[in-house]
This record gives sequence, C-alpha cells and structure tokens, in this order.
Amino acid sequence: MAKTYNVVTFGCQMNERDSETLAGMLEEMGYVYEDNFKEADVCILNTCSVRENADKHFFGVLGQLKNPHEQNPGRITCVCGCMMQQQHIIDTLKAKYSWVDLVFGTHNIQNFPELFKNVRDEKKKLVEVWSDAEAIAEGLPAKRNYDFKAYVSIMQGCNNFCTYCIVPYTRGRERSRRPEDILEEIRCLAKSGCKEICLLGQNVNSYGRAKSVPGTYHYDDEKGSVLDDGSLNLDFAGLIREIDKIEGIERIRFMTSHPKDISDELIACFRDCKHLCHMIHLPVQSGSDVVLKKMNRHYDRAWYFDKIDRLRAACPDIAISTDIIVGFPGETEEDFQGTLDLVEKVRYDSAFTFIYSVRKDTPAEKYEDQIPEELKHERFNRLLKLIHEIQEEKSKQYQDKVLKVLVEGPSKTNEEVLTGRTESNMTVDFTGDPDLIGKIVDVKIVKAQTFSLYGELI
Ligand code: SAH
Ligand code: SF4
Ligand code: F3S
Repeated sequence: MAKTYNVVTFGCQMNERDSETLAGMLEEMGYVYEDNFKEADVCILNTCSVRENADKHFFGVLGQLKNPHEQNPGRITCVCGCMMQQQHIIDTLKAKYSWVDLVFGTHNIQNFPELFKNVRDEKKKLVEVWSDAEAIAEGLPAKRNYDFKAYVSIMQGCNNFCTYCIVPYTRGRERSRRPEDILEEIRCLAKSGCKEICLLGQNVNSYGRAKSVPGTYHYDDEKGSVLDDGSLNLDFAGLIREIDKIEGIERIRFMTSHPKDISDELIACFRDCKHLCHMIHLPVQSGSDVVLKKMNRHYDRAWYFDKIDRLRAACPDIAISTDIIVGFPGETEEDFQGTLDLVEKVRYDSAFTFIYSVRKDTPAEKYEDQIPEELKHERFNRLLKLIHEIQEEKSKQYQDKVLKVLVEGPSKTNEEVLTGRTESNMTVDFTGDPDLIGKIVDVKIVKAQTFSLYGELI
C-alpha cells in the first residue's frame, strides 16, 4: 500500500502556495494524500508567525501529533514555514518537541525532497533552516488545490519593515521572478483549464523593483532588466497587461498592494484590462497619521484617500477591502477615532481587523506605550461593529443583480447547494448541476446577507 501524506497550512496565501509545492514533491516521491493529518504517514505543518495566536495554534496542533507519532514508529513529522525562521522557536522545538523528525524554513523548500529522504532512509532527525534567501527556485512541482483557479507567486519576501511585522524576518529580502517564468506558468495553467489566477506577493506593486538579491529579476526604467538574458522589462502593471492577453484566463486578481507603491499605471489597468477583477485589497492599517508614521508605512491619510479616489475614478464599481490593526503601541482615542473616520469615508466592501500582537525582535516590541489588552478589545469591537454595518449596506446593493460566479463546488454547509465566487470575491450559494463546477455562470441574487449571497441560476 502506498504511504500517505498530509500538509497542514497555517497563515497566508504564500503559505498555501508553498504547501502546494510540498504536496507536489511528496506525490512525485509516490505518497498519496490522506485527509486526516493524524492518520497520514507523513505530516508537514507549514507554520505562520504573524500574530501570537498563530504561534499558539501551531503548538496546539503539534501537541496533537505526539501520540500518533509515538504509536506509529514509521511516521514522519515535519515542520516548516515562517515560525522556523526564528531562533527562539527552534530552541523551543529542540527542548520540548525533540520527537519532530524534520525542521526546515521558508528559504530551503526546494531542498525538501533531499532533506526528507535523508530523514526517512537514514532514520535521523534534521534541523536545516537557512537564514538568507537566494533567487527563487523555478520548476518545482505543485499539487494545486483547484483546477480552475490558482495562486501564482510572482515575488517573495518583503523589504518594507513595518515596525509591527515579522514577515521581513521570516521571508527575507524581496525578490521577483522573471516575467517569462510567470507568463509561462500562467499559460500552462490556462491550457489545463484554469480560469482564474491570483498573483501573490507581500507587496506586488514593487514587483521587479528590489535590487538586493543578486541573480533575481530586477529592472529600472532607464537601463531595463539587470538579467543579461533578454528578459522582458515589465513592472507590475506591465505584467498584468501581458497576463490579460493570455487566452483562457478570465479572471486576474492580486494581493497584496502596499498603498505607498500603487502607481497610476496600475490604476489604469483597472480601466483597460478586460480580465482584471474589479477589486483591490489595499491594507491601510490605521487612520491616524501619527500611528502610520510609527508603523513605518510611508503614507498618510491624504495619500491613501487620493489613491482610493483615483481607483474609483478609473473603475467606479471597484470593491475595496483592507487590513486594520487596532491597539498599536501609543494609539490614543483620537488616533482610533481617525481609524473609525477613515473607515466611514472609504466604506470598505470588507475589512480584516487585527488586535495588535507583539512580535519578538520587531521594532514595535520595544515601544514602551503598549496598550492594555482590555482597551484593545474594546476598540476592536467598536471598529468591527462599524465595519459590519457598512458591509451589510454594501452587500444589499447586490440584491436582484445578476452576477458572474465562478462555481467552486458543493457548499460546505449544504451538499445539495453549489457555491461560487463573484468577481469581488463574495461567496454565492445557489442550486445547480455539479457539472457547472469550474465554469463561470450568471446568477441572480435573491437574498443578500452581510457575509454571503444566495442566488438563482439564470
Ligand atoms: N504584506 C501584506 C500583509 C501581510 S500580513 C501587506 O503589507 O499588506 C497580513 C496582515 O496582518 C497585515 O496587513 C496586518 O494588518 C496584520 N499584521 C501584521 N503584523 C501584525 C501584528 N504584529 N499584530 C497584528 N496584526 C498584524
Ligand atoms: Fe509586513 Fe509591512 Fe511587509 Fe506587509 S509590507 S509584509 S505588513 S512588513
Ligand atoms: Fe504568516 Fe508567514 Fe504569511 S508569517 S502571514 S505565513 S508570510
């Protein structure tokens, strides 16, 4: 009988994409997918460290694996991802979870098959985490989660060092893939029936702009590409325009955009590109200029409002979503009022709100004016209430409208019903034939609720 595997993914889309690569590698080695991670012969936990809750969640799940591990001596437990790029986590694993077989990081995923075979065949335990990123490895296998939609990573790492954020430390310096490699991947996906792609990067607006990692794609407006291999000279907007021409790709999304780097060329894409979804995730983090400065975000309210105005002028029906942190060190009631006011003015279609979480070795960890937990929660609840009111009103606009829906599969709550997503990424449930899975269909919205829509197939 073939040996089985499972990959448990925590965190963001980057991690989901990495997990697809790890699954692809295991399948190439002959392993088959097992739904229950506690039953699988090989289990990988791909971790996230963005907030303290993520860390706790990981240790909780890892704890659940101790018994299965002891009961099945052939079982291999691996941990990887963002948490592993931090020495204090490695120390904890070595001290308290020494039964884990393989530990690796975000920078050496491409070596997973080699590390894994070493552990499996030599029956040893390995910890191999690289501290620095190299160029992005191309041509790795992938077991994609869906046939009709796919994540395409266009760059990795982050150079922004927002003072609260761990990502630049766990994902390393920003580096971009060559445009040719990205376009080739998308052409292949399109040929195999993929209709929707989501371009991934911590800050896609700076695609191709970072110079720090030798051997990676970078260009400047005057000199062109620094790679002496005839590489195309494309910035992010240029890349989208090329992807827009690929036959079969009907929806293009991207995330995430840093407001400081959003260009007029990108905004123009929303007007010109036929397949670019009318939506943008534009994390604001705070509505206070004082807090934004302390967060090292490099923009202020006025700049942000200007970008929103330009986006809505180019694309009047654009759906806008955001991320907001509540309770950043030193945040006063006045600062918080600034956030509420900004939310009122922008009127987001959706917003992800987070309570500030202290991250070890980030600049904000050292700020002395940390906000008491209770106050953070109180502000968080006030913000959430406002966001939901606006979301409810936004959602009502869809009532009786006919929307294009990419059908994803049976609904999680009711097997008899199909679920799909609109261009603005809202979920729609409706009754229809399972043959429609993977197709884009017209659905008339008959019931518009705050977080979900119900419709009828046209
Ligand atoms: N690169 C993306 C975001 C990556 S992290 C961007 O810049 O937009 C996703 C979100 O987590 C961030 O937008 C931020 O709102 C939140 N976040 C990051 N660090 C956090 C922390 N220490 N506490 C609370 N929320 C945090
Ligand atoms: Fe973190 Fe800021 Fe980079 Fe986003 S841009 S990953 S929030 S440092
Ligand atoms: Fe988490 Fe790493 Fe993503 S810290 S949010 S998995 S980049």
